[in-house]
Amino acid sequence: MATPFRTIWTTPDNFIEVIDQRKLPHEFVVVGIKSYMDAVLAIKNMTVRGAPLIGATAAYGVYLAVREMIENQNDGVFLDEAFEQLRASRPTAVNLFWALDKMREALDGSDNFLKTSWEMAGKIVEEDIETCRKIGVYGLPIIEKIAQKKNNGIVNILTHCNAGMLGCIEWGTITSPIYQAHAKGMKIHVWVDETRPRNQGANLTAYELTKHGIPHTLIVDNTGGHLMQHGMVDLVIVGTDRTTRNGDVANKIGTYLKALAAKDNGVPFYVALPSTTLDMTISDGLKEIPIEERDENEVRYVVGKNSKGELDQVLICPETTKACNYGFDVTPSRLISGLITERGVCEANETGILSLFPEYR
Ligand code: MRU
Repeated sequence: MATPFRTIWTTPDNFIEVIDQRKLPHEFVVVGIKSYMDAVLAIKNMTVRGAPLIGATAAYGVYLAVREMIENQNDGVFLDEAFEQLRASRPTAVNLFWALDKMREALDGSDNFLKTSWEMAGKIVEEDIETCRKIGVYGLPIIEKIAQKKNNGIVNILTHCNAGMLGCIEWGTITSPIYQAHAKGMKIHVWVDETRPRNQGANLTAYELTKHGIPHTLIVDNTGGHLMQHGMVDLVIVGTDRTTRNGDVANKIGTYLKALAAKDNGVPFYVALPSTTLDMTISDGLKEIPIEERDENEVRYVVGKNSKGELDQVLICPETTKACNYGFDVTPSRLISGLITERGVCEANETGILSLFPEYR
């Protein structure tokens, strides 16, 4: 990695800071999170986003709620309310609920809420970093095999949305094998889907690949199929917000169409995930994963830098046109070549997942 940095960190007075991802790549703004409500809002308005980072922010949100409860001499009802608000901040990424459950479990057995919540949130952050590093270790051979087949030619990888370090704490999930391949001197080129409506690909993935010196090209979301038909994509790797027991994957809207095009063209389609994204309580992703619906104005307007160099938004449809804005879709497991996890690569089905995570039997 070129310049390692984290997406969430603690301050000397034990508050939290994050990068305002709504302003990237044009402005690098650091935002303080000083109350649990700050954490709720940062998740809701997508100052922070990406499944693992949402989980980490929620964990620190619980710590801040504990701190506020003690400082303001509130009772346990205040803490319950904080858990509920954090739980309701976004519906699809299961890391949010996983992190909140971890925090609740830790507090239940504790006689020092402040210390316990601080330590558990820190542990969630540290574990995510190590998990993502390992995803890179296990994902790297997939890239190496393709490079060998191409006589060490350029490996063209297509990705959707941002499952990079900005969506996690460090390394990222899909970017971890890419960064590790790049560090080994392999020739990598990434096709970056812009990822409308919020453009996480254009704004965030392109930003971090630029920072790491990884060659990449921005494409509109509908270009992937054409590229695959012409042999210009060797591998697709995407992230996930929730992965079911049978290997169905919810990820940013449009992922499913990439998987269909990959299947039709014989392009390997991998999903990189920390096990914190597994939801082993459900099986059928289409029926059981709640899909977030966001404000229609995210579709009606495009945000960018104007000719005066200021962040601005422009309307791209008639004033009266309505829009519908589903944030995620589900890719059925049959379209997925494999899951890249911190314990290895497995088939996208229950047997595959249980072979790596027997504790879910
Ligand atoms: O709406 P977002 O930006 O939170 O959606 C993010 C994604 O869909 C990512 O691909 C996913 O969270 C994986 S992040 C490692």
